Amino acid sequence: MKTRITELFGIKHPIIQGGMHFVGFAEMASAVSNAGGLGIITGLTQRTPEDLAKEIARCRDMTDKPFGVNLTFLPAFTTPPYPEYIQAIIEGGVKAVETAGRSPEQYLPSLKAAGIKVIHKCTSVRHSLKAEKIGCDAVSVDGFECGGHPGEDDVPNMILLPRAAEELKIPFVASGGMADARSLVAAMALGAEGMNMGTRFIATKEAPVHENVKKALLAASELDTRLIMRSLRNTERVLDNSAVDKIVEIEREKGANVTIADIHDLVGGVYPRVMQQGEMDAGAWSCGMVAGLIHDIPTCKELIERIISEAETIIRKRLEGFLAA
Ligand SMILES: Cc1cc2nc3c(=O)[nH]c(=O)nc-3n(C[C@H](O)[C@H](O)[C@H](O)COP(=O)(O)O)c2cc1C
Repeated sequence: MKTRITELFGIKHPIIQGGMHFVGFAEMASAVSNAGGLGIITGLTQRTPEDLAKEIARCRDMTDKPFGVNLTFLPAFTTPPYPEYIQAIIEGGVKAVETAGRSPEQYLPSLKAAGIKVIHKCTSVRHSLKAEKIGCDAVSVDGFECGGHPGEDDVPNMILLPRAAEELKIPFVASGGMADARSLVAAMALGAEGMNMGTRFIATKEAPVHENVKKALLAASELDTRLIMRSLRNTERVLDNSAVDKIVEIEREKGANVTIADIHDLVGGVYPRVMQQGEMDAGAWSCGMVAGLIHDIPTCKELIERIISEAETIIRKRLEGFLAA
């Protein structure tokens, strides 16, 4: 498939692997890129800019295809040294950056001067338009279904994507709830030029996470995610577990008076324990409703090739077939 997204990033297939904390290591990103998509290293999973530089070098050893780095600007307990992380990205010769959270405006001049293409992840049309206005090259439009932070507007992709298509001039990919060929074809029918997947890529052979995490995704249905931290205006969609039950209960009890300190132990420092140790109840971790569509653990190559070939069949046989009838 050829779209403005494949052209922009120099990739074969219009499929991006979104940045994921403690999942987006070089193993993940290179596997997706080797399969013809755009793999993304999660910048802030690397504790220092020097560590990020090493991870980029490791990824380059594993693939000669383009890959990107995610930079997330979310409320954090301490602000990371973003300019130094950006320097590591530039010096590592990376040509694609996925930004997320707050606006990347202040960092765009240095990224653009280095010839880096920036795709900003947005959960609303107004933020997408802002991204276009400040000079981002593309947008990842992240619907309410998504794993991670869906924002506070709760607009699902069936509405959000065509609304984005009505307003945006720059290309965008659909993000949130994307799992297979049906997702890709539907997203493209709604105006997207590709798709971004998070949760689906965790259930692949190469995803460098504990087997318990992959098993949990296979076992989960579309009913097994919950929203937390809405009262803090930092809503996150996570897989339900005993820690999440506690968070929901604390939020219910404290109502508008809840603070991050009340739930800190259940959301802070959780990712290494879940993703690496396989402690599935250690705390809250992001997961999309798309878990309900995950039924196997293929390699990234198998997954991406299946998506592309089935998408062709859907377009040529199923959709064309309706016209013929
Ligand atoms: C375990 C996990 C961790 C994530 N961590 C990040 C992150 O650090 N930064 C970010 O921008 N997005 C993060 N995301 C969001 C993904 O990049 C992507 O936007 C989202 O998963 C898309 O929705 P889907 O899970 O339905 O595919 C994370 C998602 C998951 C599932």
